[in-house]
Order: sequence, then structure tokens, then C-alpha cells
Amino acid sequence: MRNLSVNIGHARDFLPPEALTSWASRVDQAQKELLEGTGRGNDFLGWLDLPEKSMKTAAEITQIAGQFSEDLDSVIVIGIGGSYLGTRSVVETLADPYVKSRKNPEILFAGHHLADRYYAGLLDYLKTRQWGIVVVSKSGTTTEPAVAFRLLKKALESQAGTVKAARRVIAITDRSRGALHRLSEQMGYTTFIIPDDVGGRFSVLSPVGLVPIAIAGYSVTSLLEGALAYKQSHLYSRDSLNDPAGIYAAVRNALLGVGKTTEILASFEPQLHYFAEWWKQLFGESEGKEGKGIYPSSAEFTTDLHSMGQYIQQGLRNLFETFIIPEPPHSPVEVPADPQDLDGLNFLAGRKICAINDAALEGTVQAHVEGGVPVIRIETGPISEYMLGELFYFFEKACAISGYLLGVNPFDQPGVELYKKNMFRLLRKPGH
Ligand code: PA5
Repeated sequence: MRNLSVNIGHARDFLPPEALTSWASRVDQAQKELLEGTGRGNDFLGWLDLPEKSMKTAAEITQIAGQFSEDLDSVIVIGIGGSYLGTRSVVETLADPYVKSRKNPEILFAGHHLADRYYAGLLDYLKTRQWGIVVVSKSGTTTEPAVAFRLLKKALESQAGTVKAARRVIAITDRSRGALHRLSEQMGYTTFIIPDDVGGRFSVLSPVGLVPIAIAGYSVTSLLEGALAYKQSHLYSRDSLNDPAGIYAAVRNALLGVGKTTEILASFEPQLHYFAEWWKQLFGESEGKEGKGIYPSSAEFTTDLHSMGQYIQQGLRNLFETFIIPEPPHSPVEVPADPQDLDGLNFLAGRKICAINDAALEGTVQAHVEGGVPVIRIETGPISEYMLGELFYFFEKACAISGYLLGVNPFDQPGVELYKKNMFRLLRKPGH
């Protein structure tokens, strides 16, 4: 199994010859600030130690998750932004949509929007299910999850009775503050704490991600082992450009310097859709401030080669692409031979679908590079909990370094407040 690595061969050609060496000392400085805790947002560096800290509670979390979900058909994870995207990225990346007989409950999501039709449909669907809730909110006051929790709590209490319903709720929130904390104490919910020094988008390896991921039946130990392996191999790297995260942070900032203002996280594995959503939040919220930042977007290939592929090949040349390339699966499907060959596909007979996908990948990289789009390749082991753990830690570290290189605080999000103020004023919330 291969470990995570970053290949920048197809990005380097777009940069002046000395570009990377000139970034090296800045990356070293950013890494120093991160490790010594002297950079901006240094009260939110708890994520650095989550792999080993969470490992100590992994067995307990797995056991509680197992007991909680024993008789449940469905568990609704309520949360928004960093309070749900990590979980969703793991659950959707590892899910096999055609296996209906898994012993673990299905995981559904709520609290990440305010769409009426969705809630009407969900409430209706749950009438015939045995279900529970995992509600995640660090502040405990975010409107979208709070509204969803009020709605679903009432439905669960009506269906199961107040006492039984309370046993079917897990709350993951702040240690001592916020409405959800108070409510959990009063109702006696099983509660997990989000550490003070871990921000939402850096929290997937805390109970925020681990509890629902364990409920879904995936190995939180393997997830943490992957993150820990990355940390141990690279966090303290003396030469930051030997660290894949350092290289990635340097190259994307160097590309920004030559006008590449949009990054597309691309993959030929559609299962990684929600991983890309997690990544977009991580980089978008961490870097997009003070008029700075690379715009993070995503694409799924080959699907999007038949839609966005045109723009990527020939549109505005402000793009670069970062490909996540997992090792292909072990049980590949082959194209069958056909005696008539009416579709002319016998040249592919006996070839594995993953080999064809690989040819599509290499063909796309070549085409996009020729079209003026620099390409960064992130190569990993096969899709698994371990590989996702590595990727989480790699991207979190890269994001912190990259934010410092840009000169912003990667750990705050002051820009998300204005829409809330306006919404509260329009809804006549007291005090607005
Ligand atoms: O990364 C972040 O901090 C945000 O995305 C938050 O996770 C998100 O806004 C949800 O906040 P809370 O967990 O307080 O409900």
C-alpha cells in the first residue's frame, strides 16, 4: 500500500525556475510558527494533536456508538459546516450503495440547510423507522442545526416517548457553554465534548467526526492511524519542502502568484464527492478573507469532462487542478468481449474498468497541462479509513501553512456573520 505523496511535475513548468526554492524559507517559517504556536489563530491548534489524543478514546467511542445504534434503522446527523462535512465525507466515500444488509444504521443528514421540502420528506420517511439523532454544534446556537434539532427532537419524542427519545440522542458540543450544552444536561443526553482549541472545520478527528463515523460502522481506529502516520512522518519535517503538505502549500501559493486564482480539486472516483466538499470548506473558510485566497472548487471526472471539461480546457486561464489519485481497487471489473463487436469496443475486451479510468486520468492530465492548466497530483493508498485519515491531516496541515503564507489567520471565519445578522433582522429576532 502506498503512502500519501505529492507530485508537482506538471505544475512546476508553469512557475519561474527558482520559484519553489524562493518559497522554501517562507514555508519553514510558517511551519515554525505553527509548531511553536506563535502564528495567528494560535488558540485553535488543538487539531495538531487529535490523532493521538482521540486514539485514547477510540475504543470507548466505538463501544458507545455500537450500543446507541443497536436497534436503530437510521441515525440523523444534525450539523452544518465543520460540524457535518467531515462525517459526511467519510460515510459517503466508504459507502457501498448496493449493500442493503449492513448491520449499522443508515446515516442521514439534517441541519445543513433550511429547505422545507427536505424536512417534510424526512419527517414523513422517519414515521416508519426506528431512529436516533446525533446533534453536533460547537457554539450550540447555530440556527440551521438548532431548527433541525427542535423539529426532529419533537418528532422523536412523539414517536418514542420523552424518556426513550432522550436515550436516542447524542449531543456533541462545547464543554460548558451554549444552548445545546444546557439542553443536553437537562435532558440527560449522552454527550461528547468538542475541545475549545479545535475549530469546526478542523474537527473531523475529534468526537465531531468519530462518533457518527463509528455509528456508521467504520473503523475510527484506522482513520486515526492514517492521520497519526502522516503526522509522525511529516509534521516535524526539518525541511518543509520534504513534507507533502509543505510542497502543496508552497506550490499553490506560487501558482496564485502567477495568476492562478482558482483551484479545482478533481478526482476520477465519484465516491470522493463529499471529501471535496469538506476540502472546499477547509480552504474556503480558512483562506478567503482580507481580499485574499485561492477560490476552491471541485470536479468529478470523467463525468464533468463532459460539462466543465470544456471550460477547464479552454476557458479563462486562471485555473489549476489538484488530482486526488487513490490506488485502484483490488476487485476490478473487466469489459466483456462481444462476438459481433457492433459498438466497436472489442479493443477494450478483457481490460479492467479501472485501467480505462486510469487512461482517462493520464489523458486528461496531458490535455489540461497542454491547455495551460497546472496539475498537482496527490497519490494515496486505496480508498479506506486509513487513507482518509492521512488525507485529513495532510490537508489540515497544508491549509494552516498555506494560510500563513498568504498572511491570513486560517482559523477564524469573520465573514460568515453578516448573512446571519441580516436574516435575524428580517426574522425579527429579539435584539436584532
Ligand atoms: O469551521 C467552522 O468553524 C464552521 O464551519 C462551523 O463548524 C459551522 O459554522 C458550525 O458551527 P457550530 O458547530 O458552532 O454549529
